[in-house]
Amino acid sequence: QWIVDKYEVGLEAYPQIKEAARILQANQVVAFPTETVYGLGANATSNEAVNKIFEAKGRPSDNPLIVHISRLEQLDMIAQDISDIARQLISKFWPGPLTLVLKKKDNSISEKVTAGLNTVAVRMPDHPIALALITAANLPLAAPSANLSGKPSPTLAKHVADDLAGKIAGIIDGGATGVGLESTVIDCSGEIPVILRPGGVTKEQLEEICGKVEIDQALVTEGQAPRAPGMKYTHYAPKAPLYIVNGSKIFIQSLVNEKQEQGIKVGVLTTTEREQEYAADEVIACGSRNDLESVANRLYEVLRLFDESKVDIIFSESFPNEGIGEAIMNRLHKAAGHQLINE
Ligand code: TXA
Ligand code: MG
Repeated sequence: QWIVDKYEVGLEAYPQIKEAARILQANQVVAFPTETVYGLGANATSNEAVNKIFEAKGRPSDNPLIVHISRLEQLDMIAQDISDIARQLISKFWPGPLTLVLKKKDNSISEKVTAGLNTVAVRMPDHPIALALITAANLPLAAPSANLSGKPSPTLAKHVADDLAGKIAGIIDGGATGVGLESTVIDCSGEIPVILRPGGVTKEQLEEICGKVEIDQALVTEGQAPRAPGMKYTHYAPKAPLYIVNGSKIFIQSLVNEKQEQGIKVGVLTTTEREQEYAADEVIACGSRNDLESVANRLYEVLRLFDESKVDIIFSESFPNEGIGEAIMNRLHKAAGHQLINE
């Protein structure tokens, strides 16, 4: 584990970054911070290296990876037929939490990265350590979130170590990530861009640049096969069953009381505004309701905290489905396996 201060200048020359870059060039895997969540990086041009990502995470091999770059020239080595709309999104949101699915260029990166698809997902992260590492390695890096498959994505180096210590060559600890949820994935390989995964860049922000944006129907209607293969798996799930509750705090408290009377240990996921108002075995505030970005920032950490608290069941408040709230509710629904209680 290397600890690196992201505010240092000239990071690509730092010994820790150089060492991690050498390890990547030797086709080993290294975890590093980005502005969204920690990623598990490997040389995207090597089958051997990319295989190690799937092995360490226990990730199904039909789930393709995002390629991370630090310079625009790297994009044209990986993707082709890039539309004007895609170029506009890139110039507005890169570096940043937006992943574009584009037509793949032949013989550029390992087939394992794209799981046999003819498209490739690419992003330029907005994090000095991530950018310095990619530049120092001088390689495009395939990098999924650095968690065990099915667990919440890591927002602290400690989360990576909890999941992957002993299975990977190293972790660069750059402190807490920023957004706290993964990047938005937008498919720009067709006429109209389609959001495959809501994330750090909101639908409203995207529409300002490209007018009409569609949302993969599988995100809205249950039972449809999502176009981002990764969206079909259960994800982000804490050990205890999680229920999203659409209702007042009095209603939520009554659910808690009912379970406690049966001897069940109950957790409540709330916000700072209401933290003091519940009586349960574990009440954890996830940011402030007046600042949904703070909720996004803490969500995965809070889901992991519930695992340490040994509750048997968790009730979560629900959040408005707009702006970053769309990504929050998407992740909460996946963590809850779509279990919803309406008042
Ligand atoms: O914020 C992020 O995007 C983080 C950081 C580390 O950059 N990475 C991340 O990667 O979340 P991962 O592997 O956990 O999620 C990648 C998502 C999956 O849902 C995958 O199915 C989808 O992107 N994806 C990748 N390539 C695709 C493609 N060619 N077509 C459609 N979906 C694709
Ligand atoms: Mg992931």
